[in-house]
Amino acid sequence: MLDQINQLRDTITKTVISNAAELEVFRLDFLSKKGFVNVLFEAFREISPEIKKEVGKPLNLLKREAELFFEEARERIETNQESAFDAFDSSLPVYLNGVGSLHPIKAVENRLVAIFNSLGFDISEGPEIEDDWHNFGALNFDDDHPARDMQDTFFISTDVLRTHTSSVQIREMRKKQPPLRLIMPGRVYRNEAVSSRSNCFFHQLEGLYIDKGVTFADLKQTLYYFVQQFFGDGTEVRFRSSYFPFTEPSAEMDIWVGTATPEDVRLTKGTGWLEVLGCGMVHPNVLDNCDIDSTIYTGFAFGMGLDRMTMLKYGISDIRDLFLNDTRLLSQFRGL
Ligand code: PHE
Repeated sequence: MLDQINQLRDTITKTVISNAAELEVFRLDFLSKKGFVNVLFEAFREISPEIKKEVGKPLNLLKREAELFFEEARERIETNQESAFDAFDSSLPVYLNGVGSLHPIKAVENRLVAIFNSLGFDISEGPEIEDDWHNFGALNFDDDHPARDMQDTFFISTDVLRTHTSSVQIREMRKKQPPLRLIMPGRVYRNEAVSSRSNCFFHQLEGLYIDKGVTFADLKQTLYYFVQQFFGDGTEVRFRSSYFPFTEPSAEMDIWVGTATPEDVRLTKGTGWLEVLGCGMVHPNVLDNCDIDSTIYTGFAFGMGLDRMTMLKYGISDIRDLFLNDTRLLSQFRGL
């Protein structure tokens, strides 16, 4: 139905109305009781509540756009009776092709924020230029720890461009005592070769939950819920043990994509499983560094790539496409 809405919008915005007769034809075709917009509203009544949720807003928007298009054409014709019949009138206002839209990464971020909001997570943000302590030291990276090499860093004199949103965890824990339940979206930077799969900047969403008695089971259930909401009911997940200096134990979570298509085989390197995030129980040293008593409180953290989620969700195979600002790509996300 979204496709139909977008097609109809295209047709409408491409319609040329230069006189009263054409105006009336437009009204009959698109805005009358039997017009195309109403036909879509009738179809809308029949569809399932989930799809309704998705298409309700774009459909209403389409109706408003069509009405606006009609009103503008009418005004133009009425105020410009003589020239309305001319083939070309250079004084007519320029037509903008539809309205703007959210960038797909922002739309995905909004969706994730909504999912975690429903579990009681609030949003926090931190600065993109960080000091070494917030980005590394407080997160239990030793000065000469090889884990620093995991994240090639851009330096700005003594500061760094943050390599992950985990730095925001530190800022928040330094500010507030538990219970803390936060998600932290933002842009991060890594000094890496740019390719179809990695960029020198990208976006992450960090999660943090600190309270008395928080366990790995809470972490698994939270992430399991998120996957069902975001990728669809029945999506399988698995956890593999991993290493991060700031979590212990640490894990990476994969989702099951399968190997049905050549694209799935490529994406999963033939395994059917795709890594989507890193997570673990917050290391006691990290809590201590933030003056949170690690003998009383425990918690979990996770971090995922928003660009990656966007690519997965919409089948985009080159991360660089997301930053070209090419309207041919962006306009496909109108109505999100
Ligand atoms: N900061 C890690 C990364 O950028 C992700 C992560 C966040 C892992 C929180 C565990 C806990 O790769």
